[in-house]
Amino acid sequence: MTDHIKTELQTLYADASKHSTYQSIPEFVSAELGYSETIDEQWRGDKSRLSYLLAARQPGDGEHWGDFGANTGFFTLSLAKLYPRARFTAIEANPNHALFIQRIAEYFNLTNVSVINRAIGLRQLLEIPCFDFLLHLNVLHHAGHDFDRDLLEQREDFTAYATQYLDLLRSRARGLVFQLGSNWGGDKTQPIIGVSEDTAKLRLFGSWLKRAGWFVTSVAYPSRNGDGSLSYRNLAPQGNPPNVQVDELPEDVLDEAISKFELERFRGEFNRRPLFFCSHPKR
Ligand SMILES: C[S@@+](CC[C@H](N)C(=O)[O-])C[C@H]1O[C@@H](n2cnc3c(N)ncnc32)[C@H](O)[C@@H]1O
Repeated sequence: MTDHIKTELQTLYADASKHSTYQSIPEFVSAELGYSETIDEQWRGDKSRLSYLLAARQPGDGEHWGDFGANTGFFTLSLAKLYPRARFTAIEANPNHALFIQRIAEYFNLTNVSVINRAIGLRQLLEIPCFDFLLHLNVLHHAGHDFDRDLLEQREDFTAYATQYLDLLRSRARGLVFQLGSNWGGDKTQPIIGVSEDTAKLRLFGSWLKRAGWFVTSVAYPSRNGDGSLSYRNLAPQGNPPNVQVDELPEDVLDEAISKFELERFRGEFNRRPLFFCSHPKR
């Protein structure tokens, strides 16, 4: 039985699609099935993102959390195992990866996991459930490529599209953790904003969230620990007055706060993606 599920999972995981071989396998799955995939934790920091998420917000009993663009379910499954009294819905366009999540949920009897295997674009956003909290991590910069090609034909329209999208998303979740890349469709030749323009990036993405009616309660970046591992930590601009959104802070204050993370020392672009925690007053 174990060998059978392991083989099936391996095939579904490595399906050679655009976002395959992306996430780590949740620890409880590896421990039980002896199945893992080699993903460099320094690259995207699945475990460090999860640790930070749980330090910032934990699923309450009876809460319903969503994971939009859940990939192979690292977040959905890890959370569902840890919080059996909360419900989790993974929304994932790739049928193999959606089935990967489903199979693990079935095998481990995680009855608090649901999977929606659909590509949800701006027009379908209102069809997803309303969540207490939503993970929306590293999907939006793929708009115009992976989905909504007809709505977003050129990079110059990204700001208008993203603001409209985030505004609609507000009706689907009370709280949000949001992250996105700086290259349109993941294409280095199509920057939405320069990879190393950290302050401008933070202000740009923060301004979309604000215009869409979200309040940014905290922002985090990864930093390297003494043993080389990653931990996400809050950006703490000096004298940061309460109730001021990031895009309103003076550039030099943000520059100084971000510089402490030494983001230029990281390989690649992923670790320069701020993690935004957001909420909004009830409509
Ligand atoms: C870059 S991966 C990010 C995975 C995960 N959220 C994370 O940060 O580790 C993007 C994922 O979103 C999925 N995806 C892309 N567009 C989608 C859409 N319109 N609806 C649902 N899933 C989508 C992809 O198949 C892929 O698994």
